[in-house]
Formats: sequence, C-alpha cells, structure tokens
Amino acid sequence: MHAIIGFYSRTGSSEALAQAVSREFELLGVSTEPLAVEPRGRLGAVRGAFLALFRLGVPLAEEYELGDADLVVLVGPVWAGNISPPMRQLITQLPPLQGRRVVVLLVGTRRYERLAKTVADELRVLGADWVSSRGLRSAEVRDPDKLSSVVNAIAREVVR
Ligand SMILES: Cc1cc2nc3c(=O)[nH]c(=O)nc-3n(C[C@H](O)[C@H](O)[C@H](O)COP(=O)(O)O)c2cc1C
Repeated sequence: MHAIIGFYSRTGSSEALAQAVSREFELLGVSTEPLAVEPRGRLGAVRGAFLALFRLGVPLAEEYELGDADLVVLVGPVWAGNISPPMRQLITQLPPLQGRRVVVLLVGTRRYERLAKTVADELRVLGADWVSSRGLRSAEVRDPDKLSSVVNAIAREVVR
C-alpha cells in the first residue's frame, strides 16, 4: 500500500497531524509520501477566510499528482466553518479517485465532524472507493498522548 499525505497548514497543526499519520502508517508497513500543498501567491487570513466562506479555491503553486497511491490522506485546517481555499482547490483539481481510498482530516479550534463528512461525500461523488473522515481540535493535535491515540485509531481503520 502506498499513501500520499496531502496537507495544507498555515500555523503547523495540520502539518504536525500529517507527519504523525505518516509515521504511524510507516510503522504498519505503508509507504508514505508527503505532499505539501501551497497557494501560488501569499494568502492572507482575511482573504483566506472570505474565500473559504464562499467555498472558493485559490491557484496552487503546482499541479499536484497522486501517482500510483492507493491511499490518499487529506489534512487541513477549518477556515470560516469550511475547508481552507488551498484544500478546496486541491480537491477540485484531483485526478480520478477510482481505485483509491481517501481519508479526510480537518483541524479546527472546534471539532468539525459534520464538515469532514460533507467533504467525504464530495470525494465519494468524485469516485473514491472508500472515504473516511474525522474532525479534530487543534488542542488534540498539540497533546502528544491524544495525537498518538488519534493517529493510531486512524491507522487501524485504514490499514487492515
Ligand atoms: C483565516 C482563519 C479562519 C479560521 N476559521 C476557523 C473556524 O471557522 N473554526 C475553527 O474552529 N477554527 C478556525 N480557525 C482556526 C484554525 O482552524 C486552527 O487554528 C487550525 O488548527 C489551524 O491549522 P494549521 O495550523 O494547520 O494552519 C481559523 C483560522 C484562520 C487562519
């Protein structure tokens, strides 16, 4: 199994979660590849929140590819009650998801389970074979014990 761990992170929480997931998968024998998603230009918080509110994306720094990954993990922050514009754009321009399983992990100050499920539904519509979703609080990501139990649960669900 080969996993691409795509993440956008402005202040480091989503990146820390992506790294922890990657480490846990590797322990279970899944090869992982990080994919740091970046907007093409500077994305300030105010414009970012406005774009997120209206569910708009932003041009990305690159055309991101999924290669032969059979597992795709998408990790990013919640902005204005939605997914961040870079993550929105990545989802918009994803190559076909048929034959791939996807995990959506959203980090917010609060836990956004329903938003994560909505994004999961969008990815099912895009053809993903199987999608799992989870909303996490940034405080959980900063707590090493909590982070370790969360990534363990994610890995157990995915690596069967
Ligand atoms: C522009 C902006 C909007 C945000 N909006 C929300 C929000 O609506 N709800 C929430 O719980 N957190 C919100 N946050 C907080 C972030 O989701 C939270 O700090 C997250 O952990 C940041 O992830 P990161 O460190 O990977 O960038 C917002 C942060 C920013 C910068």
